Amino acid sequence: VELLFPTVIIFLGCVALLLFLQWKNLRLPPCIGGWIPWIGAGFEFGKAPLEFIEKARIKYGPIFTVFVVGKRMTFVTEEEGIDVFLNSKKVNFELAVQEPIYRTASIPKNIFFTLHEKLYIVMKGKMGTFNLYQFNEQVTEELHGQLENLGTHGTMDLNNLVRLLLYPAIVNILFKKDFFPTNKSKIMEFHRHFQTYDEGFEYGSQMPECLLRNWSKSKKWLLALLEENIPDIKTYKPTKVSGTVMQAVLDVIKMETNEQDGSNHALLLLWASLSNAVPVTFWTFAFVLSHPRIHKTIMEDIASVFGSAGKDKIKVSEDDLKKLLLIKWCVLETIRLRAPGVIARKVVKPVKILNYTVPSGDLLMLSPFWLHRNPKYFPEPESFKPERWKKANLEKHAFLDSFMAFGSGKYQCPGRWLALLEIQICVILILYKYDCTLLDPLPKQSSLHLVGVQQPEGQCRIEYKQRK
Ligand code: HEM
Repeated sequence: VELLFPTVIIFLGCVALLLFLQWKNLRLPPCIGGWIPWIGAGFEFGKAPLEFIEKARIKYGPIFTVFVVGKRMTFVTEEEGIDVFLNSKKVNFELAVQEPIYRTASIPKNIFFTLHEKLYIVMKGKMGTFNLYQFNEQVTEELHGQLENLGTHGTMDLNNLVRLLLYPAIVNILFKKDFFPTNKSKIMEFHRHFQTYDEGFEYGSQMPECLLRNWSKSKKWLLALLEENIPDIKTYKPTKVSGTVMQAVLDVIKMETNEQDGSNHALLLLWASLSNAVPVTFWTFAFVLSHPRIHKTIMEDIASVFGSAGKDKIKVSEDDLKKLLLIKWCVLETIRLRAPGVIARKVVKPVKILNYTVPSGDLLMLSPFWLHRNPKYFPEPESFKPERWKKANLEKHAFLDSFMAFGSGKYQCPGRWLALLEIQICVILILYKYDCTLLDPLPKQSSLHLVGVQQPEGQCRIEYKQRK
């Protein structure tokens, strides 16, 4: 009886909704609902969500709804729907992300709505193109520090190598110099907890924490680390830049609320800054090293800017980066091919798309991953072709049309320029110092997650030898 009652209520609710919509003469997009109440198409969708979306597009057309665990997700895949997603006032970013943010970082709804826009403006300013090149020196210095620990040669899983370099570099730049642990066991602990938190992020954003024991433990570990360090971050005085991104975030929190200590927002910044930049750096190396012609041209470009010896601690200036355009194209082409599975907005007023009406309450979904595989927008979409970026006006900070890996519209990723800078410098420093070879074939991408860029599946080892 306990199970039957909610099922009957849901059934009657659906019938009432259908009658109401018919009465209002509204036509909903085709819906894939599965047959299990509330779960809907949850099982099929959860097995391989990316493939599910593409199969549904082929079967149902450019707009369709998937009903999963009580949520209606309406996917748009072509111009009219994309235009609504990006520009309509009837869809909203904050309402789409508030609940996942509450679950993953324990930021209450009222605090999120009070702070979000102000925090976004501050982060966008701090990491925007105007301030960007002040990070060059810091990024180079931090990465040189980490490269010293690698020694003269070795073999390692490429993903671990990238993590060893980027975790400390990014954290020390965004939070405070020397914030990242230097003690070996604490470093390993950080790696373990961050990876658990990152891998479970998607489940954590939808399920009660009590059902995810390990994930919850790692979340608490990271929160405790951040909380312990907030007082030091607040009082830290950087020598060359005006203040770190986290300091600016803490200033806003202090000004607007009295209760929050800031560790919850610090956790979100930590996740946002590492979860995509690390796999993109992995894939950039993997693509470059598995394309010998591109690898060779990049090495010639690096030698023409810095000379051919690999022992010097080079500095990478804004001018140097402008001369190494192929590396930037490789990073962007990598991001195109490994783009996030979905980005989401909440429909706040019924909105018309292609003769259908998407009702309020739906999540409107756009898949950068599949958009980037549409030959209409990117010819030969599956090929790694960095030269397609020649057409982008990168001088004016514009990507190619239909490139949406950083989202788009009002709340586009505020860290995108910093991410590109970090990845380019990381590639330059490693390839300059070491002769690198991949020992395994290019791994497959895991198709399990929709949030964030695509992760590699399995191991891929790299051999590195310091140049003479
Ligand atoms: C290649 C690396 C990266 C990719 C592909 C990426 C992608 C994205 C995407 C798709 C969004 C959501 C945008 C939307 O829904 O329209 C986002 C938001 C965000 N990203 Fe990134 N990102 C990357 C690196 C970074 C870095 C290095 C930072 C550093 C701080 C960062 C900070 C953020 C923040 C704070 C938000 C939330 C913005 C808000 O609250 O409105 N991201 N990112």
